[in-house]
Amino acid sequence: MAIDNNIVFLNGEFVPMSEAKISPLDRGFLFGDGIYEVVPSYGGQLVGFALHIERMQNGLNAIGIKLEMGVDDWRDIAIKLMESSGKGNLGLYFHVSRGADTKRFHAYPEHVQPTVFAYAFEIPAATTADKQGVKQYKVTSTEDLRWKRCQIKSTSLLGNVMHFQQGQDVGVQETILFNQHKELTEASACNVFMVKNNVVITPPLDNQILPGITRHMLLDILRKDGSFQVQERALNMTEVRDADELWLTSSSKEIAPVVELDGQPVGNGKVGDIWQKAQSLYSANKYLY
Ligand code: PDD
Repeated sequence: MAIDNNIVFLNGEFVPMSEAKISPLDRGFLFGDGIYEVVPSYGGQLVGFALHIERMQNGLNAIGIKLEMGVDDWRDIAIKLMESSGKGNLGLYFHVSRGADTKRFHAYPEHVQPTVFAYAFEIPAATTADKQGVKQYKVTSTEDLRWKRCQIKSTSLLGNVMHFQQGQDVGVQETILFNQHKELTEASACNVFMVKNNVVITPPLDNQILPGITRHMLLDILRKDGSFQVQERALNMTEVRDADELWLTSSSKEIAPVVELDGQPVGNGKVGDIWQKAQSLYSANKYLY
């Protein structure tokens, strides 16, 4: 699809991408002062929509942006964008910045309207629980050098971008992050899960990680299914390096199996059985959220 002709939503109007204009004084541009979301949709079916909008509202509240838009307003925008994009496998991108002031000044301005932008982009087909067909990930690791407010899904993503690039520079697809105490936080654009002796474990929610919607849904689905013990607890680097399985989760990847960490095989170096079961449960239940 020619991205320039795509219809996007900007400040109440649907316009072609090439006609969407934002002021250079927009605080999203100058300061990364905004909140965003990415919601997956397959064949017109949105995944976790209300949960995504709730997280966005939490982010807006956390940074003091007042916006009179509810879940139904966002859903109307999503539906229009899906209709004009042909309802394939789409990521719906929603972005609210604090808006454009008349000067560059750090303090939150008063009487400035937030800038609201949304568009749809193609994402890979939904993951299926197929050990042979699934994309296998190799990752590197490094110290998490981002800020201490990672629970906010801020458009200030330079810290994440720089960590993601570290992976690209060594020819792998993601970078997993450990804090200064060598505990796992997350990856540059995903949450991280590991499996040891049939127990599925992921770090707890705090200011060091994004409260991923895929993470939330997967934990809920696994707990309801009851086949595996599930834990949210701190994981140190030694445990992660000794994992039987390692997974990345995100809206566009669903549950992605990691087979290599820093050049070493994860477990037996193959996609794991528990991944297969987890992805299969996720695929069967994801539209219920
Ligand atoms: N990334 N952690 C980080 C730092 C992320 O950027 C993301 C999502 C996640 C997973 O969250 P969720 O399951 O809600 O997608 C965890 C999005 C997709 C992105 O920035 O493109």
